[in-house]
Parts: sequence; structure tokens; C-alpha cells
Amino acid sequence: MPAKTITLLQQKGGSGKTTTSVNLAGGLSELGYKVVIADMDKDKPDAWSWAMKSDKLKDMAIQVNEKQAREVITGLKDQYDYIIVDTPPNFQTAALKAALLADLVVIPTAPSGMDLSGLMEAKELALTAGRPYRLLANRIAKNTVMSRSLLDVLRDGGDAFEIAIPQSVKFVEAESEGLYIGEYAPQCPAHHHTQALAKEIVAFFQ
Ligand SMILES: Nc1ncnc2c1ncn2[C@@H]1O[C@H](COP(=O)(O)OP(=O)(O)OP(=O)(O)O)[C@@H](O)[C@H]1O
Ligand SMILES: [Mg+2]
Repeated sequence: MPAKTITLLQQKGGSGKTTTSVNLAGGLSELGYKVVIADMDKDKPDAWSWAMKSDKLKDMAIQVNEKQAREVITGLKDQYDYIIVDTPPNFQTAALKAALLADLVVIPTAPSGMDLSGLMEAKELALTAGRPYRLLANRIAKNTVMSRSLLDVLRDGGDAFEIAIPQSVKFVEAESEGLYIGEYAPQCPAHHHTQALAKEIVAFFQ
């Protein structure tokens, strides 16, 4: 079966596109899938740089120029099970093309007003592109008003992943060590949440 393309989309910087791309790539590969990260953030190819430092991920990431996005991503379809596309924090050509190429748009959203308005715009873009999308709560902190209201908004919409990714220093430490969460702190709660997200993605396509 040709690879499924998963595009991370959110105009708000720092919402977790890159962190989700890299850790999800690790989580899907733990499940036995062949995964490649296609980094389309040409000004700040953080996912690519991160993956290059990791023994597990270094052969699993490429940089993709927006001009060749369609041919490169189409060319990867026969070699992989999942292509994870990380995008920059704006809706210029790279993000627009990545949305159009997606089999699933994933919209990570942290508990902040700006993330929420970014969520609406990313959702609008996915709908306009005619691509399926799922919202992902990220950086959820227990017992905070903003986290609770984000979870409420997502639950009411019925278009979010069941799993919510917690705020965890383990994600930050893993990134600074150049490792994905399953290499850095196997079986920690953040790793279990990442595994649950990977399983939801697999189920989405079944
Ligand atoms: N669940 C989380 N818990 C704790 N820290 C997180 C979490 N998700 C992301 N971060 C941290 O937040 C920062 C921004 O995350 P990331 O780089 O993934 O966002 P981004 O959407 O790719 O940003 P940009 O739009 O600038 O590319 C990073 O320092 C990352 O380690
Ligand atoms: Mg990024």
C-alpha cells in the first residue's frame, strides 16, 4: 500500500509541530512501520536537524523544498508506510502544498488563545484543501483552566484525537539530547502518550 502522508499544520509557532513530527515518527517505527520525516520548514529545519542527531531516526529524515514537494513526496510513497511532513509556522507555499498532499492533517494546539485561533485557521485550510484533519491537544497541564477549556473545546468538536499530549519536560530533554522520546526515556508517561498517538493514527487509516 502506498504511504500515508501526515502533515503537521499550525500557524502558531511553538505549538508542537516539530516535537510531534519527530516523536510520532519514532512511535510509528516502534510499531514496525517504515517512516520518513519530510521537513518542509526551509528557514528552520528543526525536525531534520533533530533526527540527524538520533541513531534511530537519522536515516528517516529528509529536507523537502516546496518547489519539488509534490514529486518528492509522491516518489516516497512506494518506499514507506508513513510520510510525516513538518511545516513552518505560516501558511505560505510550503504549508499550503503540504496540506494539499496530506492524507491526514494533524493540528497540534497548546492551551493558549493564540493556539486556538491558529487551530481554527489550520482547520479551515484543511477543509478548503478537502483533506481530513484531526486536532491534537499538546502541552496539557493538569488542573489548569486553559488546559481544561482546550480539552472541552476539542471534545465538543468531535474532530480531535482521544489522546492529549501532556506538558512534559521529558520532551524538551529528549530534543536537547537529539533523541526521540522512546530513546531518551523509554516507557515514561510521555513515551506512552506518544505510543497512544501512533496507535490512533494507525487506527485512523484502518
Ligand atoms: N508536550 C510538550 N511538553 C513540553 N514541551 C513541549 C511539548 N511540545 C513541545 N514542547 C516544546 O515547545 C517548544 C516548541 O515546540 P516545537 O518546536 O515542536 O513547536 P513548532 O510548532 O514546531 O514550532 P515552530 O512553529 O517554531 O516550528 C520546544 O522547545 C519543545 O521542546
Ligand atoms: Mg517546528
